[in-house]
Amino acid sequence: MTPAILCEELARVYDGGYRALRGVSFTVGAGEFVAVMGPSGCGKSTLLNILGLLDKPSSGHYDLEGARVSRLGDSERTRLRRERIGFVFQAFNLLPRLSALENVCLPMAYRGLSRGPREERARELLARVGLSRKASHTPLQLSGGERQRVGIARALANRPALLLADEPTGNLDSKSSAEILELFRHLHGEGMTVVLVTHDPGIGKAAQRLLRIKDGLLE
Ligand SMILES: Nc1ncnc2c1ncn2[C@@H]1O[C@H](COP(=O)(O)OP(=O)(O)O)[C@@H](O)[C@H]1O
Ligand SMILES: [Mg+2]
Repeated sequence: MTPAILCEELARVYDGGYRALRGVSFTVGAGEFVAVMGPSGCGKSTLLNILGLLDKPSSGHYDLEGARVSRLGDSERTRLRRERIGFVFQAFNLLPRLSALENVCLPMAYRGLSRGPREERARELLARVGLSRKASHTPLQLSGGERQRVGIARALANRPALLLADEPTGNLDSKSSAEILELFRHLHGEGMTVVLVTHDPGIGKAAQRLLRIKDGLLE
């Protein structure tokens, strides 16, 4: 079966010459739940940004669902990112003036879905993350854990094949972290491919496989 992700010798050199990734190769099978761990500054976010098509490798290959995406132009990458990838951020990255419902609707609006269907799907997604009653709240009216649940609902809006999360519990207390982890486990149970960067060994243990990075290399 075609892996969800295949990376060969991925490297990323930032302006100024810093080599944040120095050649990492791995695959992630469709439906796998993989955790990425390693010390601060080792290249975890650099890797996840490449996997999420937010950044390009300086060298090496990245195949997403069997298609070579490391050399695509910006508009193709944007389209693929919107259609195939859900990204969950440590700082939630919600728009503060929009309600939870509107935040979840946004990726569907960018994709051209009309208002009725997108609100219907956004309500379903908010129900799945346990926030039906807070659909009209803005981010400031929500707790950290609730904001992250909105972030996850938004990431799922366009039915991605791949869910990426960069320290999604990094700003949360332990109870909220456990709830967010439970959501990821549940999504994995439904067949979603999940790659999650974490500092939390408990979360690392919940994954099927651990990728350890040190100084821009896989250990
Ligand atoms: N845009 C950038 N320009 C230059 N250096 C960067 C940039 N982003 C990250 N770095 C550097 O690359 C290294 C890896 O960063 P990052 O991938 O964010 O690590 P992690 O997520 O594991 O903490 C760090 O030393 C960081 O300072
Ligand atoms: Mg990081």
